[in-house]
Amino acid sequence: MSTGLRERAAAELTRTRQRSVGLTDAVDDDDLVRQHSRLMSPLVWDLAHIGNQEELWLVRDVGGREPVRADIDQLYDAFKHPRGERPQLPLLGPAEARAYVRTVREKVLDLLDSVELAGRPLVEQGFAFGMIIQHEQQHDETMLATHQLRTGDPVLVAVPPPRSRAIVAGEALIPGGPFEMGTSLEPWALDNERPAHQVHVPPFLIDRAPVTNAQYQAFVDAGGYDDPRWWTGRGWAHRQEAGLTGPAHWHGDGTYTRFGRREPIVGDEPVVHVNWYEASAYAAWAGRRLPTEAEWEKAARFDPATGRSRRFPWGDEDPTPEHANLGQRHLSPAPVGAYPAGASPAGVHQLIGDVWEWTGSPFGGYPGFRAFPYREYSEVFFGDDHRVLRGGSFGTDAAACRGTFRNWDYPIRRQIFSGFRCARDPRPGEAAG
Ligand SMILES: [Fe+2]
Repeated sequence: MSTGLRERAAAELTRTRQRSVGLTDAVDDDDLVRQHSRLMSPLVWDLAHIGNQEELWLVRDVGGREPVRADIDQLYDAFKHPRGERPQLPLLGPAEARAYVRTVREKVLDLLDSVELAGRPLVEQGFAFGMIIQHEQQHDETMLATHQLRTGDPVLVAVPPPRSRAIVAGEALIPGGPFEMGTSLEPWALDNERPAHQVHVPPFLIDRAPVTNAQYQAFVDAGGYDDPRWWTGRGWAHRQEAGLTGPAHWHGDGTYTRFGRREPIVGDEPVVHVNWYEASAYAAWAGRRLPTEAEWEKAARFDPATGRSRRFPWGDEDPTPEHANLGQRHLSPAPVGAYPAGASPAGVHQLIGDVWEWTGSPFGGYPGFRAFPYREYSEVFFGDDHRVLRGGSFGTDAAACRGTFRNWDYPIRRQIFSGFRCARDPRPGEAAG
């Protein structure tokens, strides 16, 4: 690993830790150890789990050093204890957890200077460091979702997102034909994004913007939650059982709660906190459907001028604040039209950032998939139980968001920052090819 790569890894580790500290220092000890929802871990579990994964992979495996706290490994193994059980475990307290993650980090920064990093796929181009940085950022987004579920006075602050700067409406036609999906080159890409492969995608139309609160409100107002025609069988059963009447955190009077603040719903922001069944029902009501995962990625990456796939909709450069609403710079999605510089060649906006977008596709491995560095990272989640989400949200860091990045969850979940956009097949005469 070159000096530049070591410096980049150190800088990203430090930047990421600032976010984790911010999310956990924002609340008192009582809030840190409490479970704010059965769906979420206590924040203090996330914090020590971040440190434990870092210890397992970087201190012990990459660094070959003695364990810091081998006695706590099983407490922070996500596969041993479902989230609902975690508050009952003999977890490290807030002060202990903070001291633990600091100790681990000191060792990691120390070994990063000198560790031999050749000859193993785990360390080539700093992969293990990139994996741990992304892992921490993913837990930061999870902790942000916990903050959204927490009751009590607001504790997080951020500047509002930029205003709309472009009129973005209607659909973009994406021509049929092959494109390269996934990646074999992106050094910190995770196993489920690999390898790059050709996919033939028939022509389709996709919304140029995510579905907004105002559009979603029209579905609610039209009685969409009371009409089983729009819902899949399982979706309707869940809607009945869970008593859903609108997105999570909506109060039914034109207001919603965000991070402890009750505010009027902003009509031109992408709708967030809807599950896959709700997204699918909206799409059916609108005479549309969710895009497949391949359609979403082609809309986001395919450059018709060159025929190649870009890293991001706007090109190959890493995201800047001009391109996308990422990294918890703001505490909400931005209105449609806020990121004209982030549009794809076909004029599709806000694919990256703002809200995770549900696709119609189950989560699976690409042709030639190989689990790396462990099966529990992705492979054990493959199958029809999960649906893929793409593009990242306002709470996703750029380090954990690429045009190829894949997220997945159960179709009933909506505590995540999930929204969607619609797609459809062309009508006769609409698309040549
Ligand atoms: Fe984790």
